[in-house]
Amino acid sequence: MTNSDSSLRAAAIPRLRVSGVSKSFEAVHALRSVSFDLAPGEIHALVGENGAGKSTLVGMITGLLEPDAGSLELDGLPVRFRNPLDARAAGVAAVYQDPNLFPHLSIAENIFTGQYPKRSGFVNSASMREKARQLLKRLDFELDVDSLVAGLTVAESQYVEIARALSSDLRLLILDEPTSALTPGEASKLYEVVRRLKADGTTVVWISHRMEEVRILADTITVLRDGQHVQTSPSSELDDATMIKLMVGRSVTLEAVARQDALGPARLSVKGLSIPGIFDDITFDVHEGEIVGVAGLVGSGRSEIAQAVFGIGTHPTGSVTVDGKVVTPRSPSQMAALGVAYLPEDRDADGVISSMTIEANVALPSLKRLSRFGFMRQTRERELATTQRTALSIKGLVGDLVSSLSGGNRQKVALARWLATNPKVLLLDEPTHGIDVGTKAQVHDIMRDLARKERLAILMISSDLPEVLALSDRILVISRGRLVANIDIADANQENVLAAATSTRTGAA
Ligand SMILES: Nc1ncnc2c1ncn2[C@@H]1O[C@H](COP(=O)(O)OP(=O)(O)OP(=O)(O)O)[C@@H](O)[C@H]1O
Ligand SMILES: [Mg+2]
Repeated sequence: MTNSDSSLRAAAIPRLRVSGVSKSFEAVHALRSVSFDLAPGEIHALVGENGAGKSTLVGMITGLLEPDAGSLELDGLPVRFRNPLDARAAGVAAVYQDPNLFPHLSIAENIFTGQYPKRSGFVNSASMREKARQLLKRLDFELDVDSLVAGLTVAESQYVEIARALSSDLRLLILDEPTSALTPGEASKLYEVVRRLKADGTTVVWISHRMEEVRILADTITVLRDGQHVQTSPSSELDDATMIKLMVGRSVTLEAVARQDALGPARLSVKGLSIPGIFDDITFDVHEGEIVGVAGLVGSGRSEIAQAVFGIGTHPTGSVTVDGKVVTPRSPSQMAALGVAYLPEDRDADGVISSMTIEANVALPSLKRLSRFGFMRQTRERELATTQRTALSIKGLVGDLVSSLSGGNRQKVALARWLATNPKVLLLDEPTHGIDVGTKAQVHDIMRDLARKERLAILMISSDLPEVLALSDRILVISRGRLVANIDIADANQENVLAAATSTRTGAA
C-alpha cells in the first residue's frame, strides 16, 4: 500500500470502512450486516452487551474469522486478511480479552513471534531484547524480557500482548477489554499509552464494559446490539444513560443500596495468615450477611490471600475459622466441605471447562448433592442450570458448549457454578470481570440477596473501584502483601481507597 493519494483526499477517507459484514455460527447470527467507519487517529469505543458481537467483529477485521458477507477497506483500499499475522503486517492488530501468548517462550520471543524466521536467532539477539525492553517501556512497564510468559499474571500478559501489537507500524489497534484485569492506576497508564498512539495517528478501537473509561477516552462511540449496528455517534453527543439504553434496551444504574438488616456473627475469621514473601499477618472477619470488598493493586497479594483461605497452593501459617470451626487450610476439598466456595480470577484456566456444556459446568461443583437423585440427576442438572441461566441471563442454551460462548457469558457460567452450591462463605475474585453493565447490576443484586437474605459471608476482590464502593459493607485494602486499611463503607471513597492501595509503594520508592 502506498501513500500516493493526496493528503487532501486522505482526510475524508476512513481508516477502516466496515461494509455489510455478517457472520453466523450455525443458528447464531453473531453479526448482521454491520456497517460503520473508523476515522484516522481517533479513539473509537465499541460497546454492547455480552454476546452482542464485538469480539466476532474484531476477529473479522483481523483475519481470525472469515465473514459470511461484507467487505473491509483500510485507508481506502479493499483488504481481506487471511490471518492475524497478515493483518499485523498491514498495521492492524488486536489484543484480545483472553491473553493469547506462548507460555513457554520468553517475553521477548512472544513479542516478536511470527515476525522473524524461526530459529534465526534474532529473538535471542541483544538488539531484539533491547527492542522488546523499549516497547514495554513505552507502556511504562518494566519486566525482565527474558523471563517466561508462563509465570505472568493476567495483567502482565496483557501488557506483553500490547507490546507485541506495538512492534509493527500500527494503523489500527483494537483493544478488546484490555483493562478488565488492571487496577485503576495501571488502567490510567494504559489510557495514556492509547492517547499517545492516537496523537501519532493510530486509530484505536476500545472495547470495554466500563462506561467510565469509554467516557473519558472515546472520541466516537459505536453501539452493537444482538449482532446489529445500532448507532455511531461522537462521544459528546451520547450521554451515559442513552448509551446504556441503546446497549441493553432499558435503563440501568449501579449504585449502593442502603442496608436495613444488622450483621450477624463472624462466619469467616482469618487470623495471622502468612505465606513468607507473598503476604504477611493477614487478619480480618467477614460477618454473616456482610460483603467485604478487597481492593489493591494487581500483584498486591489479594488473589493469593483468597487462594490460601480456600486451601490452594502453598500452605499458609495462621488460622481460618468458618462458622466457629478453626482450621489451617490445606486443600480446596477441606474448605469446600466447610461450606466455602471460591471463584478464581482466571476463569478460563480454573473456572470453567470449555469443552463441556453450560449444564455440566454449572452442575459440577454440586455433583455430590445431585447424585442423590440417581437417574433423576440429569433432570436436576438441567433445572439447576436453567435457574442460573435465567438469573444471570446467560446467552446460550444450557446444552451449548461453553467454548461457543462470548467472553462475558463464559464468566457468567463460572459464577453460576459456585452460586449453585449454596455455600456459607463465598470468595469471589473479580466476579464481574468482563460482564456487561446490565448483567453487572443483576449480579450485584444477586450478591446482595445472598448476603442479606441467605446470610452468606462474601469476600469480593475487585479492581473495579465503583463496584467495590457500590457493593461492599467494608473495604480491606491490600498493599504489598499487607492489610493496610480496613475502611467502613460510610468512610470510604475513591480517594482514600486508592491512597491506601498505593501507600507502601510510594513510601518505599
Ligand atoms: N466459535 C463460536 N461458535 C458458536 N458461537 C459463537 C462462537 N463465537 C461466538 N459465538 C456467538 O456469537 C455471539 C457473539 O459473540 P461475541 O464473542 O462476538 O460477543 P461479545 O460482544 O464480544 O461479548 P462479550 O462482551 O461477552 O465479550 C454470541 O452469541 C456467541 O455465543
Ligand atoms: Mg468479547
